[in-house]
Amino acid sequence: VIDIRKLTAQTGKFTFDPGYTSTASCESQITFIDGGEGTLLYRGYPIEQLAENTDFIETAYLLLEGELPTSEQCAEFRNNITYHTMVHEHFNKFFDGFRRDAHPMAIMCGAVGALSAFYHDSTDINDPQARKVAVHRMIAKMPTIAAMAYKYTVGQPFVYPRNDLGYTENFLNMCFSVPAEDYEINKTLADALDKIFILHMDHEQNASTSTVRLAGSSGANPFACIAAGIACLWGPAHGGANEAALNMLMEIGSVDKIPEYIGRAKDKSDPFRLMGFGHRVYKNYDPRAKVMQKASHEVLDAVGISDPLLDVAKELERIALEDEYFVEKKLYPNIDFYSGITLRAMGFPPSMFTPLFALARTVGWIAQWREMLEDPNQKIGRPRQIYTGAAKRDFVPMNQR
Ligand code: ACO
Repeated sequence: VIDIRKLTAQTGKFTFDPGYTSTASCESQITFIDGGEGTLLYRGYPIEQLAENTDFIETAYLLLEGELPTSEQCAEFRNNITYHTMVHEHFNKFFDGFRRDAHPMAIMCGAVGALSAFYHDSTDINDPQARKVAVHRMIAKMPTIAAMAYKYTVGQPFVYPRNDLGYTENFLNMCFSVPAEDYEINKTLADALDKIFILHMDHEQNASTSTVRLAGSSGANPFACIAAGIACLWGPAHGGANEAALNMLMEIGSVDKIPEYIGRAKDKSDPFRLMGFGHRVYKNYDPRAKVMQKASHEVLDAVGISDPLLDVAKELERIALEDEYFVEKKLYPNIDFYSGITLRAMGFPPSMFTPLFALARTVGWIAQWREMLEDPNQKIGRPRQIYTGAAKRDFVPMNQR
């Protein structure tokens, strides 16, 4: 057995903090969360006010530049993003290498990583102009790539970006427009999706953002860093929770089966957890979940459907919030609890929920990546470990084992 005290004396002292529950990895001016109060601020502005009063482009500018844009700044930024929405024509062929039934997140991990093979001219991280172009390219091309991933998996032809449309309208058009059929963009749906994107844009040092920063700390190019973030986001404990939450609501199916699932969530011998409940930082209601619940109603009204899963969700929330186990552990619905119902009503299959999250979070990832590079204290991320393996021993030849 290794003597840890002797080892730390040799290697210097360090903290042991599994899951980084109380370790700050960086300084940042982008996003503030007060988990006890249930507050989320982007550059000081409450998320509720931004979701109500701004659009995707305006909030993206705020996160990147630190201040709300003037109308001229906003128009210029909108123009820059619109200019970069296309992907290289050869990029289309890249998709043919994926299986028809690939998960869109699997496609996105590969396709976004491949951007560095197409856009060499914005991979020099030491050139501020190249960094700026990389930021614009990343934000502009994500909807195109996410829509292509969707079209590929449903076997429909890709739809090219339309620069006469707004950011979110263009994305809806690329996803749902089919040849020889008019697709009419529903303004309520486009506004609700825009709001959903704003809610997902940044969330300080979550697992995927930390992954982007860690990848970027070695000097890796921005496209490779975002691909790393996408891979991390895919997990069901993180961005994959929206898909998992909807699957869980479908499995529960009716209000009378809720007590059985609440019982399972509390049973420590059962690995089942209520998906869409709990958060590492929020020990109060997730402020994004409240906006999302309202958006759910707006979308369901706009499409004129009454989804029985919304009744299951509301009743599940009501019962869980009164249950001693959930109250004691401060487990409240998070943003993912209502987002699945909303996105489903818009026509997205569950497999597209996490790609939509990735699209929005790209703004936060790239803002944090740039902030990290501009930090004079920036160093390569290199955590330490507590070694618990075998003590030093001599090699044993195979015939003596
Ligand atoms: N259902 C039932 N019990 C839960 C749940 C849940 N959803 N979440 C946490 N708990 C319990 C744990 O079993 C644990 O109980 P214990 O103290 O008796 O062992 C306690 O609450 C603390 O849980 P941890 O896993 O230690 O908390 P942590 O902060 O590490 O995890 C997490 C947070 C991963 C979000 C967790 O709550 C979870 O798995 N939730 C479901 C998945 C989900 O909704 N993820 C989305 C997160 S938001 C986002 O990424 C956008």
